[in-house]
Amino acid sequence: MSFLSKTLDRVKPSPTIAVSNLAMELKAQGRDIISLGAGEPDFDTPAHISAAGIRAIEAGKTRYTAVDGIAELKQAICAKFKRDNGLDYAPNQVSVGTGGKQVLYNALMATLNPGDEVVIPAPYWVSYPDMVLLAGGTPVFIEATLDNAFKITPEQLEAAISPATKWFLFNSPSNPTGAGYGWDELKALTDVLMRHPHVWVLTDDMYEHLAYDDFAFCTPAQVEPALYDRTLTVNGVSKAYAMTGWRIGYAAGPKPLIDAMRKVQSQSTSNPCTISQWAAVEALNGTHDFIAPNNAMFARRRDLVVKALNAIEGVTCPVPEGAFYVYPSIAGLIGKRTPAGTVIADDETFARALLEDTGVAVVFGAAFGLSPNFRISYATSDAALAEACARIQRFCAALV
Ligand SMILES: Cc1ncc(COP(=O)(O)O)c(C=O)c1O
Repeated sequence: MSFLSKTLDRVKPSPTIAVSNLAMELKAQGRDIISLGAGEPDFDTPAHISAAGIRAIEAGKTRYTAVDGIAELKQAICAKFKRDNGLDYAPNQVSVGTGGKQVLYNALMATLNPGDEVVIPAPYWVSYPDMVLLAGGTPVFIEATLDNAFKITPEQLEAAISPATKWFLFNSPSNPTGAGYGWDELKALTDVLMRHPHVWVLTDDMYEHLAYDDFAFCTPAQVEPALYDRTLTVNGVSKAYAMTGWRIGYAAGPKPLIDAMRKVQSQSTSNPCTISQWAAVEALNGTHDFIAPNNAMFARRRDLVVKALNAIEGVTCPVPEGAFYVYPSIAGLIGKRTPAGTVIADDETFARALLEDTGVAVVFGAAFGLSPNFRISYATSDAALAEACARIQRFCAALV
């Protein structure tokens, strides 16, 4: 009999690890590796936010707090939802956790029973299906295809909902595609949800502030206020504020759900890091002046990468609305061979051969549930991106 939990049998190890292990091995051998795998900004936390963390330490704010967040942070979160999304929440409808990841996990742990289904558009953030499985539920996927710019249609959503559906897990702008749903596109989806009152909405708005050109972010409870009583809106400070290591995420929703999530957290990690909570108060209440210049930089990098990828025969890359990822299709390269004779049978072989031959590390599409594609994170310097794109172009041109 195995000592390990049977639940773990349902969960696969992160498929991205193989590629990143190989990248690390090659780097250790002295190879020149450009990693385009990281899901985090390449700049430091803004100084005024870090200073708030330092002040918290100096003021002795280093003890346990209330399980799901200090009152000051909950107030700042309520103000943020009002300011950015037009949503009214009271502090007792807010939960703060150790990253958006823990908040999502708490929500699933607090609600799923065996047999419960969670509808997830694919490609998806790698953690969604496995978190659902760990919580005892069943993920049900909807394919968001390249033809529809990686967005699902209302018809697909309608077809995926069953009497067992508990949640619709929504993420816009998306990791890994960067696709963002505009107001009308989202309204068409919320109209479907209005016909299925047993389905709740778990919306992951982590990339809200990373939106480019004239894309206007919107969130389900804002687009369809009648969904307010069955929506959990998740967000966090990791991405837009370059605070990935501080580990603060949050959510707002119906009080009974927030209470249940607190119960899960109280018996696992207790409160998120006290110092980080004070830094997050400053992040949400302080100046947002740095966001526009950062976004201008990200949009420029996105354009650089999309242009370089679309110049490659066999590669197609739509222009995403937000986040800092692109998700090109390599359908036109499948079946070709590298000069050394490796057949590009799928996107995993592509990513591995690209890394071995050129030193460019990307994440293959199968990890995100839609193939044949790969994900590039363009949250890295212009110079590194230009060099990586040139290497990808040479690698693809050499395929026969
Ligand atoms: C779509 C999405 N949601 C949630 C998270 C989790 O963010 P964190 O736990 O750092 O707040 C990430 C991080 O990569 C993400 O890409």
